[in-house]
Parts: sequence; C-alpha cells; structure tokens
Amino acid sequence: MVNQFAASAPGKVNLHLGVGEARADGYHDLVTVFQAVDQREVVRLVVEDGVASEGESVVAGITTHWTLEGALSEQIDTPSNLAWRAVDAAVAAHRAAFFPVALPKVRIEVDKAVFVAGGMAGGSADAAAALVAANAYLEHFSGTALDQNQLVALAKDLGADVPFALMGGNALGTGRGDDLVEMLGRGEFWWVFVNPRVPINTGEAFGLLDDLRHHNPSLVPHLDTTAVAQALTSGDPEVLAVALHNDLQAAALEMRPQLKELIRAGEAEALAAIVSGSGPTVAVLCRDSGHAQEVRDALAGRFPGYELITTHGPAAGALL
Ligand code: C5P
Repeated sequence: MVNQFAASAPGKVNLHLGVGEARADGYHDLVTVFQAVDQREVVRLVVEDGVASEGESVVAGITTHWTLEGALSEQIDTPSNLAWRAVDAAVAAHRAAFFPVALPKVRIEVDKAVFVAGGMAGGSADAAAALVAANAYLEHFSGTALDQNQLVALAKDLGADVPFALMGGNALGTGRGDDLVEMLGRGEFWWVFVNPRVPINTGEAFGLLDDLRHHNPSLVPHLDTTAVAQALTSGDPEVLAVALHNDLQAAALEMRPQLKELIRAGEAEALAAIVSGSGPTVAVLCRDSGHAQEVRDALAGRFPGYELITTHGPAAGALL
C-alpha cells in the first residue's frame, strides 16, 4: 500500500519588483518578474492510523526537518503553517467538488531548504508542494483529483506568491503578483543567496515602503520590466546584472541596515547584488557555477554566521 505522498517546490527571486499603490484589500499592485531557483522545499504526507471524520482535518501533525545548518529555529510546526493550511484547503475543495470518501489521517513532513521569512517564498513553496502532494493523496484514496485551475485558485487564497511556486520558471506577475504569464528565457543564471538570519515580515516591509514614499519622492514605483525581459532572452548574466531592480529594497535596508554592507560586498565579488523580495536575503548574481562557488566562499569568510545557498534558475514549479 502506498503510505506516502511527496512533492517539491522551488524558492524564488524577484528579478524585478515594482510596487504600486496600496489597495483597499491591504495588498499592493505589483509588476514583478519571478525566477524560480533550484533550491526546493519537499513536503511529504505520511499516512497514519485512523480516519478523519467528515469536516475534520486529515492532518494529525507537522514536523519540519531543517536542512539548513543553524537555521532560525522558529516554532513553525503548528496548524497555521501554510503546508498544513494547504492540505486542509485541498481536502475541503475536494469534499465540496466530489462525493466525500473516508480519508486516512496524515502527518506532514517538511524538508526545509529555503530560508524562513527570508524573501525567497519558502513558506509559499511549502504551500504549493503541499497542494500537489495532497492532490496525489486525494486521487489515491478517492479516484478523483482537483484540476490545475482548482489548484491555482487554492494557491491564490493561500498567499500572493503561492501560484508562482506552483508554476515555476520565469514569469511576469501582476495584480498582487499572482496573475502570472510565463516569460521566455534562455540559459541558466547562477546565484548565491545570503541570509543574515534576521527575519523580515513581508507585510511590515510593504507598509514601511508606503511610509518612506511619503517623505522621499524619489521612491517612485518602477513598473517597466522591459530591461529584465530583454536580459532573460539574452541569457547573459552581465545583461541581467544591470537590469535587476527591487522597489522593496529601500524598506529592507531601513529595517536591516546591515544589508548595506552585504550588498556592497556582493557587488564587489560578483555581477550584482539585490535584496530578494521583501528580504532580508540578498541575491548575488554570478557568471557561472564556478564563479558562484568562489563568491560563496568569499562571502562566507567575510560574514561568518550568515547562511549561504548556491543555486541556479529558472527551475521547475511544484512537482511530485
Ligand atoms: O500573500 P502573503 O500572505 O504572502 O502576503 C503577506 C503580506 O504582504 C500581505 O498581508 C500584505 O501586507 C503584503 N503584500 C502586499 N502586496 C502584495 C503582496 C503582499 O502588500 N502584492
């Protein structure tokens, strides 16, 4: 008997992050270019004894396995974890769409490879992987599965970055960042991600940018992604290096001033360095895999205690 359903999903970097006006729903309109990177969260649903009664959560518990050395040991093994919420959402949608069947209880296991509260959408990757794993579990025990459109709708409800974690690749995101169109790209890009192990709350970063804009008229929204689109089709990291842009960087630097030194060091060692999403992770763009290894070693020596990841993009979205 199959007793385990596993899926993985990628982390991301925003090659361009243009932040427009705050909206009535508390979100901001974005024009962003995502690139999925090959640093993958793995979510497993492990079947346990017992059956969930109708209306009851099938999730018996969640355990995070930390693959990053010395990662922030936040308590995230709770029902509010996005992976848990994603499994509950998939089961509820399936119960509503099909004749409900008895479902066995599961324990969720997450192999965490992407920084927590780091600006790389690690939690969103957990949600996307959990949706795909839950759909495989539902199909196995009921013979029916949710379709891709239903999964995307659930992903949007779980968070603005979750649809991109499902999709992967390179994509233009508008609206809350969750209306996605695939973008053409050539070749692969090598990155070193450096996390100073101080979390940033995404909502606070957006709110601070609004405040900063009141006092600093130069912080206008950058909504033109032409340069990044051209850089992606060129496949040339030197071209991408000059096209990278992040409106939220101003807020991240205000909240975590130590990022300035990290960005300067990244720029000195590599082609470019930029805050990833809402930060505090800094994405350092390199020429190729060998260069990425050199840059990683140099930055690791200079910033002991910071976490580093070497990886490349674009990478596939959530998959079994
Ligand atoms: O959707 P998610 O839960 O990841 O978003 C976290 C917070 O980030 C939101 O509650 C909101 O404050 C902010 N946000 C925003 N505009 C976006 C995406 C996120 O203001 N497009």
